[in-house]
Amino acid sequence: MTDAEAMADEFDTMAAWTADAVVELGQGHAIPAACRGSGSPAALEWLATRLRLRPGMRLLDCGAGVGGPAELAAQRFGVAPVLAEPMIYACRASARLFGRPVVAAGGEELPFASGVFDAVWSLGVLCTVTDQAALLAELRRVAGPSALVGLLVFLRTRPQLPEQPEGNHFLDADELDRMLTASGLAVVERAELADFPAPEPDWQAAADRVEEVIERRHGSDQRWQTAHQQEQLIGRLISDGLVTGRLLVLDRVG
Ligand SMILES: C[S@@+](CC[C@H](N)C(=O)[O-])C[C@H]1O[C@@H](n2cnc3c(N)ncnc32)[C@H](O)[C@@H]1O
Repeated sequence: MTDAEAMADEFDTMAAWTADAVVELGQGHAIPAACRGSGSPAALEWLATRLRLRPGMRLLDCGAGVGGPAELAAQRFGVAPVLAEPMIYACRASARLFGRPVVAAGGEELPFASGVFDAVWSLGVLCTVTDQAALLAELRRVAGPSALVGLLVFLRTRPQLPEQPEGNHFLDADELDRMLTASGLAVVERAELADFPAPEPDWQAAADRVEEVIERRHGSDQRWQTAHQQEQLIGRLISDGLVTGRLLVLDRVG
């Protein structure tokens, strides 16, 4: 199996199945199920506050997946989110669940004019991208004059990892710092994902319920098995401390 096929199983097929399951279970399940890898609601709130999100602001969510984080920002902070996501079925899933504007595009070449967003974030995406410098350059380019850029990045804490999900390219903290500097982005604030509280039990229960429905319907499908293995692998790397999630608030320099 190629990296692209494994990523499609994890981020495209699973997105479509997630939307189907939410439709079966009810909209109350939508946001928890559609936050795929973006950490806890507390971490998202921290980032949203640091990005100074306000009603009416245009927020770009780059690599938006099924759209849970963008919807959370819209509902809690009143922003007008725009989603960019390369996987077509993930775009369709977010549109179906939340009806927010979405473009099918990779973050390395965003179809937006320069400086049009009031805030930009990209959550759990950098490690899935081959040309990471291009993604950072594009986030910087589309951010408006007073916009901040938020990242959730999964970082490698060891020189080598014993195993790695297909298509993932984890930087270590020094590599990330060098890449940010080269991209003209300065760290204003940072936080460790592990320091935020776990989601409330009802949030976790809603996400788990959706997972159960997907497994019941598709558990014997090879694509579910691949996606599940990928998710378990990243979960193991995090729980063993080999990979760690970091939130960053970035400002443009120069
Ligand atoms: C771990 S998921 C996170 C999804 C979402 N940000 C969230 O937190 O729920 C990573 C996302 O990055 C997307 N992605 C993969 N390659 C990308 C690229 N080149 N540009 C932008 N997004 C990409 C994947 O399709 C997937 O939806």
